[in-house]
Amino acid sequence: MIDRLCEKIPDHPEPGVLFRDLTPLFADGEGFRRTVDALVDAFRGQYDCVAGVEARGFMVAAAVAYASGAGIIPVRKAGKLPRETLSQSYDLEYGTGTLEIHTDDAPRGSRVLVLDDVLATGGTLGAASALLTRGGYNVAGFGVIMELTALRGRTQLGGHRVRALLRV
Ligand code: PRP
Repeated sequence: MIDRLCEKIPDHPEPGVLFRDLTPLFADGEGFRRTVDALVDAFRGQYDCVAGVEARGFMVAAAVAYASGAGIIPVRKAGKLPRETLSQSYDLEYGTGTLEIHTDDAPRGSRVLVLDDVLATGGTLGAASALLTRGGYNVAGFGVIMELTALRGRTQLGGHRVRALLRV
């Protein structure tokens, strides 16, 4: 189902790259609900709150948080959060970036399930994990809709449990 609702765009954003767009999955009510339910089931009882990575990860994290009665920590691109933050730079598949969290959005020691739409090189989720750890949280695992296995992103995630609903 996820693969059916994933649009493949050749040569985007650059020649030779096959971009996989999950927008049709997000736009499909039944498909998105089943996706969220699968992530909730995979980590049931293992987290106190979730973290979502801006921007597409917010959609996944907000839905999982609501479905499981958990709170959500936003992991934002640099310069967006108004209070004291922690920052972490990271390599993207197509450039570099910086992620930030507030220092005190949830109680220290909370078990945090980190969510995003796609795991590619692992730079994004690796940075999110480092941030959350520096912030005093316990990373409970990583949940993504799709993993691009050839990029070996799991190796960036420090041995934590990773659940990818579709591995391509
Ligand atoms: C995409 C995707 C993941 C990340 C995966 O986000 O949503 O967050 O890349 O790549 P990686 O494993 O190689 O780090 P992007 O940075 O394009 O931001 P967006 O969600 O705001 O579009």
